[in-house]
Amino acid sequence: MTRRALVDAAKAARAQAYAPYSNYHVGAALFCEDGSIICGCNVENASYGLTICAERNAIFAGVGQGRRNFVAMAIIGDGTRPAIPCGACLQVMSEFAPELTLYIGAAETDDIIETTVQALLPARFTLAKEEER
Ligand code: THU
Repeated sequence: MTRRALVDAAKAARAQAYAPYSNYHVGAALFCEDGSIICGCNVENASYGLTICAERNAIFAGVGQGRRNFVAMAIIGDGTRPAIPCGACLQVMSEFAPELTLYIGAAETDDIIETTVQALLPARFTLAKEEER
């Protein structure tokens, strides 16, 4: 799996985004340990708060399809500024893959930021009563 292939998959997923309210389209492509790629896009709703981000859609789809070991995710948003994942998505990523590599970019530039969930979310919420997984 090349970084380019994962970024291209995120760009293709972005084309599926349903974003009539914000008009901001996001695609995410998740590379799994078994070699598969699971994609997600943001899906908005007239009841705005029901909107789900591209990254969480990809993670939840992956888990629903039996994957839990995630290696990398590419995220592409509109425009030229990198689509840095929101805190909610980072928290969900950290549940399964605190070390997840992130390739973050935007549709109108070839620039990609390479970072990790750990770098963007150094501490995550856990239940105090729970052992760290
Ligand atoms: N969005 C994502 O898909 N991922 C993020 O990490 C942050 C925001 C979406 C949600 C909404 O549809 C649009 O971008 C504007 O907030």
